Amino acid sequence: MIFKMKNRLYILLFLLKGAVLQAQQITYYNDISPIVQSKCAPCHHPGGGAPFSLLTFEDIAKRASFIKEVIQSGYMPPWKADNKYVHFANDRSLSPKEINLLVKWIADKTPEGKKNTTEKNLPEFTSGTKYSRKPDMVLKMADSFLVQGDNTERFVIFKIPFALKETENIEAIEFYSNNNKLIHHANYAVHEVADTSIDIYNTDAVVNLSAADRTKVDQYRPYKKIMTYYGGWIPGTTYEYYPKEFGWVMPRRGVILLTVHFGPSAVDEKSISYVNLFFKKIPVTRPVKVISFGSGGIGEKQIDPIFYIKANDKKTFTLEVTNPGTDLSVMYVWPHMHYIGKEFKAYIVTAVGDTIKMVHIPEWDFRWQEIYRMKNLVKVPKGSIMHIEGTYDNTAQNPANPNSPPRTIFSEGSMRSTDEMMTLLMVYLPYEEGDEKIKME
Ligand code: HEC
Repeated sequence: MIFKMKNRLYILLFLLKGAVLQAQQITYYNDISPIVQSKCAPCHHPGGGAPFSLLTFEDIAKRASFIKEVIQSGYMPPWKADNKYVHFANDRSLSPKEINLLVKWIADKTPEGKKNTTEKNLPEFTSGTKYSRKPDMVLKMADSFLVQGDNTERFVIFKIPFALKETENIEAIEFYSNNNKLIHHANYAVHEVADTSIDIYNTDAVVNLSAADRTKVDQYRPYKKIMTYYGGWIPGTTYEYYPKEFGWVMPRRGVILLTVHFGPSAVDEKSISYVNLFFKKIPVTRPVKVISFGSGGIGEKQIDPIFYIKANDKKTFTLEVTNPGTDLSVMYVWPHMHYIGKEFKAYIVTAVGDTIKMVHIPEWDFRWQEIYRMKNLVKVPKGSIMHIEGTYDNTAQNPANPNSPPRTIFSEGSMRSTDEMMTLLMVYLPYEEGDEKIKME
């Protein structure tokens, strides 16, 4: 009798254990796919800018050990902001829980599991964008541009004319290039040219600012009277997305003047770039603007101490700028430094002494310079002081140092890659009562 009961107990325990195991089994479709689709697939899809796709079970399973390595080291997904300082709406880093799930799933030999309904409603990633749907309009350079392999930097303006049936509300904008590695940065100004007596088509499509023909930029002067929006791209930036009634309105007719700064290249390479626009139906009643602090922007001359870093030196610079105007609501912060940047921090101190954290990048990496969207709009009251701190490492021990041996690096207002910069761009709008409560998701 006792023997029988004991046996039953064992059977019961065995069944229980099986059930627990069953419940705990991590499968691709139940647990892994949602993580990978939201945190990896935006880049890892064909034409998404990453070297291979991570869209299917097979894509992931065959790279399991490699994936384990890059997620444990924090190399992937690329996310440089300190989430403990400010947690941004567009955070794409993996939580410790997600890393655990992935690592456990890989240790369990990547069970596939059964497809479920969420698998049918996956975002549609398409070639040429990291956004989760096809662009409504792609404004492309007229032709691909040959970057000569002569190791010189180039600044080139591309004119892209456009004419629409109607104005459009912008939900998102993205700069895209077939060959990101060639580009040090790009800026684009969206100019409205409503006056049809101004020809937007028969002027040169390209003006090379570094060459003898830089005076040709004069022909673009008639386009520059109205600037609807000014955006940009630096390595690692994805796109700007504006929730709800925020954004800006694409005019019916005009040009985009796209200035591309090509870094030096040792071999001939072709580059073609474009601006993707995503429209929305919701009318834009709260248009956003862009402002820049530090090098190339407001307060450039107040950077303290004088902005140069001697060979073999480490140095921290600060900038304090008062917001003299009206109250602002900040939607995005976008820090920028060059190669020897090490750490970046920005915060605001209000007139009554409150500190508002804006962004902290503890380990600067030139390759991953994202534009960070606040979870809620952040009020910057008038009279408050913006503090920016940038630390640079110009020693030979810094593997990102472009000079070997190190040499003194200046910041001379020019945007050459051999100079340094300390810049904070912000996408903002005039403050309205209650803005702090508006979620930017
Ligand atoms: C913002 C875009 C982006 C996201 C998001 C992203 N990756 Fe990547 N990934 C890249 C790019 C670009 C490269 C090539 C990087 C390079 O050349 O160093 C890359 C490279 C890799 C590599 C190869 C690394 C090597 O040393 O060659 C692996 C593995 C990888 N990613 C896995 C992932 C996983 C897993 C995720 C999600 C958890 C992810 N990535 C999210 C853009 C991204």
